[in-house]
Amino acid sequence: MEDTPTPEELELGDSFARILTETTQSLVCVLDREGRILLFNEACERATGYSRNEVLGQLAQDFVIPSEEREAFSDFLDFVWRTGTSSPQVGHWKTKDGARRLIAWSNRPLDGTGLVTTGIDITDRESNRDGALEGDPEAKLVEVSRVANEHKALRRVATLVASEASPERIFTSVSAEVARVLQVNATAVVRYVGDGTAEMVGRHNRDSSAVLPLGTRLPLDDGSALAQVARTAAPARIDDWGGSTAAERFRYGYRSTAAAPIVVGGALWGAVAIASEEALPAEAESRLGEFAELVSLAVASAQARTDLIASRARLVKAGDDQRRRLERNLHDGAQARLVSVALQLRVARASLQRNPDAVPKLLEDAARELDAGLAELREIARGLHPALLVDHGLRRALEVLAERLPLPIALSVIEERLPELLEATVYYIVAEALTNAAKHADADGASVTIARDGAVLRCTIADDGIGGADPAGGTGLLGLRDRAEAVGGTLSFTSPPGQGTTIVAALPLDVT
Ligand SMILES: Nc1ncnc2c1ncn2[C@@H]1O[C@H](COP(=O)(O)OP(=O)(O)OP(=O)(O)O)[C@@H](O)[C@H]1O
Ligand SMILES: [Mg+2]
Repeated sequence: MEDTPTPEELELGDSFARILTETTQSLVCVLDREGRILLFNEACERATGYSRNEVLGQLAQDFVIPSEEREAFSDFLDFVWRTGTSSPQVGHWKTKDGARRLIAWSNRPLDGTGLVTTGIDITDRESNRDGALEGDPEAKLVEVSRVANEHKALRRVATLVASEASPERIFTSVSAEVARVLQVNATAVVRYVGDGTAEMVGRHNRDSSAVLPLGTRLPLDDGSALAQVARTAAPARIDDWGGSTAAERFRYGYRSTAAAPIVVGGALWGAVAIASEEALPAEAESRLGEFAELVSLAVASAQARTDLIASRARLVKAGDDQRRRLERNLHDGAQARLVSVALQLRVARASLQRNPDAVPKLLEDAARELDAGLAELREIARGLHPALLVDHGLRRALEVLAERLPLPIALSVIEERLPELLEATVYYIVAEALTNAAKHADADGASVTIARDGAVLRCTIADDGIGGADPAGGTGLLGLRDRAEAVGGTLSFTSPPGQGTTIVAALPLDVT
């Protein structure tokens, strides 16, 4: 701090410089490294209503920088001090009575100790900007800065998305950045819930008066921009909101609104919306579109994470279910038989003395019981991981599977051996699909085709039954998708009523 000049030291000794500073219409302000105000000329006093006595030595952030721009302002200062360069900026200053002035700034660092910044108040020019750009270099500068600001805002959101921040944080940050870039008071990110309402999942309100809490449901039964986006999946704007219905609550007191769709995985997911008591800037709704795209990315990646967790949970549960079934089968089957063999052998031993003639029959029964127990154990082991599959490969294992089912099945199965995990995945997918066909489809027949298709193994299982398969009806179909995705593949099915069911899995051949 020692090399920072005090306001007194900075008093301009040179009378020419002093006169120039005080007579110019431009705002002239000098800041130290932390953003403390070292010089504040008359034009600054006029523009803000603060006297220099009130602000000298104070942090600009505490007086003239509006709260919603503080973060951007400190980013800007960091940038200046880190690089020694500065770029033109457009930003707001807050006046003493709370109003906002829009200022275009040029900046120049001063020997590493202070930042000289001169600005032009363009608030009035901005409000009738249309047509003013032609041949007006300052207006062009404003435009360039505006685009730069917009890109910075987009980059900040993109960084958040890339860091896998929680959706809540991203929605809130998008709302704040949109408010800053488009200079509006109220912004929101909503999700279309599917019951004719939109849920507020992120919002920003500069004046924080009469804000609706997150989670609020906004009805979509009116002509609002949100309702239009819900209907058309295209950006919408309303320049004179005269509605008086429920959605008016969101934009109570606002004149203009605009919204842009958030599309995730090809489907309309939600919208980014803004509302303003002023007329909205030109093309506000399409500028919203870029933010909406970032939200889409964030939602898609969050969705993928949630799906993955759910899928893992289902696999674990499927594993648990299988273990329980196994325990039950062992208990009711093989274990019961072994217990009865043990009993029979004990009776046989006791009979050796008293009734030796009965012994051969008793031993015979025990041996039969043992055979049955062994057969059951073999059966259970086959269900766990079919020995045939390991020993003879997919084709043979599927032939035996098909023979056991009460349905004619046409098989066309690749001959070559594949990685063990891939063979097991295909086997279980085909087994569940064919079991479903036998159980639910009322089909005359089914077909199974397993073939190479470039880098994937394509598995198609089709039946000519009643169709209408519904993953919500059980765990089998969902489990199929989980199995396919667990090896990096995909699974889809079509099952229109009356037209049979076809399941297609595409599994990468290079799994290990
Ligand atoms: N090939 C098919 N043809 C017609 N309907 C089907 C077919 N496959 C599945 N379905 C329907 O879809 C529902 C869901 O199938 P899914 O395999 O998920 O469950 P499930 O077979 O009933 O039980 P499990 O969880 O034991 O597999 C079934 O209950 C059935 O109504
Ligand atoms: Mg099933």
